[in-house]
Amino acid sequence: MTTLHDESTHSSCNHHQGNDQPAHASCGHHNCNHDRPLKEVKEIIAVASGKGGVGKSTFAVNLAITLAQTGAKVGLIDADLYGPSIPTMFGLLDAKPEVEGKNLVPLEKWGVKLMSIGFLIESDTAVIWRGPMVSNAVKQFINDVDWKELDYLIFDLPPGTGDVQITIAQTIPLTGAIIVTTPQDVAIADVSKAVSMFRKVNVPILGVVENMSYYELPDGTKDYIFGHHGGEIFARTQGLTFLGSIPIDRAVREGGDSGTPCLLSHPDSSTSKAINQAGMEVVRRISIMKAENGDKQ
Ligand SMILES: Nc1ncnc2c1ncn2[C@@H]1O[C@H](COP(=O)(O)OP(=O)(O)OP(=O)(O)O)[C@@H](O)[C@H]1O
Ligand SMILES: [Mg+2]
Repeated sequence: MTTLHDESTHSSCNHHQGNDQPAHASCGHHNCNHDRPLKEVKEIIAVASGKGGVGKSTFAVNLAITLAQTGAKVGLIDADLYGPSIPTMFGLLDAKPEVEGKNLVPLEKWGVKLMSIGFLIESDTAVIWRGPMVSNAVKQFINDVDWKELDYLIFDLPPGTGDVQITIAQTIPLTGAIIVTTPQDVAIADVSKAVSMFRKVNVPILGVVENMSYYELPDGTKDYIFGHHGGEIFARTQGLTFLGSIPIDRAVREGGDSGTPCLLSHPDSSTSKAINQAGMEVVRRISIMKAENGDKQ
């Protein structure tokens, strides 16, 4: 497979350049297929935000399940090494991955293959690692986990624009990043830092998801608790695709805490439909980018 960078795409192989990775020796390109990590993975998506607590993990989990429900082969990496959420959100707090040869076998639930630091350490153990160790752990999730063939591999990133985000953006050929925000100004200010980080390392941004957009009152009216359409306006002003709005819904929070995501516990709710629609927009956006890049897989 090839990557889908719309900026700095190499005309002969569609691989991006512009980061400070050494060029591939045999062809002079970055991240080429020949020996790139995750070469059996078609699309690699990072779910990110400069801001904490906006719903990155929640969206990443529900996106993974939405994609798996379409019949796609999906993997999810919890790249939040200091505060892993995936074991809780998948109801797998005591699960441990098996080791096969030199590789870890990802856990699997609801059609999604999973890896998280939370499966490898006790849940009440704090990770006290410095930058390079964190980057190495992420590299191990990429290189030493037997992902096999996947249509989509999703990275749930920690908040901010630090070592982990930069390691991922520079080590693996991301198809693109999804930016999650909430509507209020204080969130948008941080989120624009994440947008500029991905732009700097030439990772395309698939679009913006606005989470906690409104609360639906019993009479059907909407209360825009955190302001009106901040994420949508941000997407427009940045020239980014708006992937959709997800309401604040008790079922989402309960689903995250109980380990049965909203999409499965309340499949017919308007929130699940909104999540589903945003997931389908992601798929559509990837196809459009491929068509624009003339990428014929
Ligand atoms: N649409 C929503 N409605 C209600 N609760 C939500 C919604 N989205 C997320 N939450 C809740 O908000 C909290 C934070 O969400 P989540 O952990 O997904 O955010 P995050 O951006 O991954 O946070 P961090 O920056 O710590 O990784 C969780 O308790 C989650 O269940
Ligand atoms: Mg998170």
